Amino acid sequence: MIGSGAREHTLVWKLSQSPRVKEIYAAPGNAGTGQIARNLEITPMDIEALLTAVGDNKIDLTVVGPEAPLAAGIVDRFQSRGLAVFGATKGAAQIESSKVFAKQLMRKYGLPGAQSASFSDYEAAKRYLRQHRLPVVIKADGLAAGKGVVVADSQAEALEALADFMERKSLGEAGDQVLIEEHLSGQEMSVFAFTDARTVAPVVTACDYKRIYDGDRGPNTGGMGSYSPPYFLSPALNEMVTEKIMKPAVRALGEENNPYKGVLYGGLMITNSGPKVLEFNARLGDPETQVVLPRLKTDLVDIMMAIVQGKLEEVNIEWSGKACVGVVMASAGYPGSYKTGFPISGLDKLETDILVFHAGTKIGDTPGQVVTSGGRVLTVVASGENIAEARDKVYRNISLIHFEGSYYRKDIAEIKNN
Ligand code: AMP
Ligand code: GLY
Repeated sequence: MIGSGAREHTLVWKLSQSPRVKEIYAAPGNAGTGQIARNLEITPMDIEALLTAVGDNKIDLTVVGPEAPLAAGIVDRFQSRGLAVFGATKGAAQIESSKVFAKQLMRKYGLPGAQSASFSDYEAAKRYLRQHRLPVVIKADGLAAGKGVVVADSQAEALEALADFMERKSLGEAGDQVLIEEHLSGQEMSVFAFTDARTVAPVVTACDYKRIYDGDRGPNTGGMGSYSPPYFLSPALNEMVTEKIMKPAVRALGEENNPYKGVLYGGLMITNSGPKVLEFNARLGDPETQVVLPRLKTDLVDIMMAIVQGKLEEVNIEWSGKACVGVVMASAGYPGSYKTGFPISGLDKLETDILVFHAGTKIGDTPGQVVTSGGRVLTVVASGENIAEARDKVYRNISLIHFEGSYYRKDIAEIKNN
């Protein structure tokens, strides 16, 4: 398992439930993965060291969590060595690593999305922007760890974002090209489809919360909570998204000689005129994974091996009808600067079926003591017969967990108009 976040801890936890698994290694993992897997001190971008570790430990399947190694071609490199690896190739991962690539693909194959235009020339982008109606969305082309999208309510704000990306190069070459995009409104939803490039499984869905403060205020984060399934999801919407968006997207990538294997992530806006794509990602979402995988009834190793071998049609993927709610506990100051090294207590006081997935944690100087080591520290997850039940349960338990400066949103999965 490559990666170190709560998404990766969730994957390790789910994989460990398979009777086919003897041992799991996490690179680099965290204190949570260390309880079920052996952590290896290798960063996700050190592909050569990962290859060596896979050989040395006779690892049968490698699962890639985050996008950066996918975009760097880790899957291609593993495949050229004949190794089983779950994730998108570099070519297929362009659907995430280049928003211009994704947009061109969507346009060519008629996938529903926002109107947009791409620019590599700053002056031309400014001219186009001056005539655009507000709000307007400015997106940097490349990977930007959540910092590449600005929804601007004024011309000044939009011009500022453009200058940031294109003139001041705040994101490096990720901002060499930008998209200027129509603003869409509606319900946001993340959808995930397992695919071996031929068979596309029906999507599983979740909602995530990106802003730091309650009521979706304040700066963007890596994600402060999530729940699954969305309260507004119907079987018809699920099927429509699978048939009209995810299957055509996989087919399009295949036709462009970038066959997509792995899990395809659609970030959608459910608008009055139907679902539209905001972005595609080439991996599972964080924190969506933490509320989606606990609902998976099928053996995850069976799914992943079937995808590697191109036999997904033989696997029936089943999801439980229960609801899951996940709340992220973060360090004070996150997403700005924060302190780390604080002991975490209360994890032994929780109801037995509460799941705690670690992100920024490590074992402190006292053996067995888990301390904070990052901005997002834990995702605490509860399940229930419905969202309200899962929500009550997660909040009643999270209040038992303590570390200095801990912060979490109080409004995750709060359904206002229902
Ligand atoms: P992305 O990384 O493209 O998903 O964008 C990050 C966030 O920006 C999304 O989760 C949306 O909340 C918002 N966003 C992106 N594109 C649009 C759009 N065209 N209209 C409205 N909001 C958007
Ligand atoms: N939940 C947003 C992401 O994983 O990109």
